[in-house]
Amino acid sequence: MDPSLGDSRITHLVRLAQKAAESLRGDAADTPELLAQVEAQLRLLSIECFENDPRFAEALVNNSDFDQCQVYDDGYLAITLMLFPKAHSYPLHDHPQMTVLTKVLHGRCVLTETSLVTPEQFYGNPDRYTDFVRLQRFEETLKLEGEVSRLDRHSPNLHALTSDQGCVVLDVMFNYYTEERPCSFFYAEEEGPEGVVWATARPGTAEFMALDWGGH
Ligand SMILES: [Fe+2]
Repeated sequence: MDPSLGDSRITHLVRLAQKAAESLRGDAADTPELLAQVEAQLRLLSIECFENDPRFAEALVNNSDFDQCQVYDDGYLAITLMLFPKAHSYPLHDHPQMTVLTKVLHGRCVLTETSLVTPEQFYGNPDRYTDFVRLQRFEETLKLEGEVSRLDRHSPNLHALTSDQGCVVLDVMFNYYTEERPCSFFYAEEEGPEGVVWATARPGTAEFMALDWGGH
């Protein structure tokens, strides 16, 4: 294999994801089958695929700061390699109307999930960043190396990632954020009754999302 071409398993993942993206855009009947093919290919990928690929090898060696590498991006489909150093957190954020497949390629991380008590109120409000929002009880799950998970486009999918020992995660995101449908970040302010948390929300910008968040 010509090393300048990169790892063929990554190339194949991109091709399958492009097909699934086309289907999702047109809401075609074969979407579930094509997404299952992307998921199956994602299961075949390992950290070695990226270590052996000259496009990503250097970033993987210098994994002392938070870093993101764009594997593919056409505006609708975005495939991103996320490198978490030790004791690093990516804050609570949403994926409105997006389908996301995630694989932990290396290490492990804690996934914190929650949802808005009244999502339609938040997303339907043009002044959504001025009022407090209510979040459901937070659920934490340990995600181990090799695990693949999926976020569904019919839910806003609020989550945060924390890596205690460092990890590398690959995200395949369909229906990526737009200016009209931006990423929002949520900051817990105060705990209310029955596990509900009052929070403030802020819009994410491209620069903001690429920031090094540091350890917690
Ligand atoms: Fe996310």
